[in-house]
Amino acid sequence: EEPGFSCGIRFTAPFITKDPVTGVRNTGMYSGHFRSERTLIAGIARTHHAMLYHHPSAAKRGEPLPVAIVLGALPDINYVSAANLPYGVDELGVAGAIRGRPVDLVLCKTIPLEVPAEAEIVIEGEISATEMARGEPFSDYPGYLMTERGLRPVIEVKAITFRREPIFTAILVGLPPSESNGISRTCREMMLYNFLKYSCNLPEVLEVCCPEMGGGWNWWVIRMAKSHPSKPKQALQAASGMDTTNKVIIVVDEDIDPKDPDMVMWALSFAMQPHRDVQVITGRSPLLDPSAYALMTHPEERFFPPPVGCGGLLIDATRKGKYPPIGLPKRKFMEQALEIWREERMPELRLKTPWHGYALDLWTADDDALAERVAGGEYFPSRTN
Ligand SMILES: Cc1cc2nc3c(=O)[nH]c(=O)nc-3n(C[C@H](O)[C@H](O)[C@H](O)COP(=O)(O)O)c2cc1C
Repeated sequence: EEPGFSCGIRFTAPFITKDPVTGVRNTGMYSGHFRSERTLIAGIARTHHAMLYHHPSAAKRGEPLPVAIVLGALPDINYVSAANLPYGVDELGVAGAIRGRPVDLVLCKTIPLEVPAEAEIVIEGEISATEMARGEPFSDYPGYLMTERGLRPVIEVKAITFRREPIFTAILVGLPPSESNGISRTCREMMLYNFLKYSCNLPEVLEVCCPEMGGGWNWWVIRMAKSHPSKPKQALQAASGMDTTNKVIIVVDEDIDPKDPDMVMWALSFAMQPHRDVQVITGRSPLLDPSAYALMTHPEERFFPPPVGCGGLLIDATRKGKYPPIGLPKRKFMEQALEIWREERMPELRLKTPWHGYALDLWTADDDALAERVAGGEYFPSRTN
């Protein structure tokens, strides 16, 4: 929490729920805001699986939704809970694949759910089908406090079970870089890379970056190898379809490090034309992005587009057509410079790409011969030839 600004206390942890009709289990990283000794407010987005599918399914039967909140399980449980794995894929099964053995489960005492046996603390409860309570300002992943005090479902705590001398584990959420956005970043990058490369048939995708400053959601950069000119567009459209929340998605060429904001800025500055390479899309869900709606006057706009709603930007920042060489000395000259640097015992360099020039398409053998002569000291003779 942010002392001096947070108006409540909350914890963030994996929440396990089951669809009461189909039995499909979901484990999502959500938060519980303390309301009283026996109640919590469910900090679960309407677009996230527990609230999108399980809560309505229970509410339709007029029943509360049992929920087990797991504190202090092994880190793989945190990661699978924070990853937006496809609905129906059991996150605990995926955690088992990560740790190389099934996750040992034990039954809860008061609700029909199983939880990882290694957990330090388990809060067993029920999310009310009808009772809602007003939340208080809290800090979240965009790096702003959420002040809108919206109504959220109440969780009635049935039991708390724990190991002897349990350790309470917290995940810090706030202005990025933060623990929370670090976890989000890792999950999103794995999901996006795998989705584009294997589900969307895009072997050209080499690397993705969903940096913490964008909350793991609002700024995605995809590095791609050149092939057919339609491929960057396919990647942009596919990436936007991976979830409803991503916002600015940029495709860059193979030689641009997507983790290096300077290089991404360079690609945006000199390989992109807005009228040709940028597409604005709508129908997005902003989650907690405060730029998407008038916080105090129209909070309902957060929940789906018009009149303000939320959009996305798809940017193809790959070079189109023929390009001249990169404006740095050729590799052999830079290597000579490096040798001199080392001979002089200068501090070790951490080279950042590109650290030498290279030709792209607009460079002929004649250009090369002329440049070699100039580099060899034949400037005036080469001019008169
Ligand atoms: C540290 C951390 C805290 C999070 N807190 C919340 C939260 O309080 N509420 C929420 O709806 N999503 C939160 N998320 C995002 C969800 O965990 C994420 O979208 C996940 O995919 C949800 O699971 P689901 O896809 O099964 O719904 C958080 C993510 C992380 C990494």
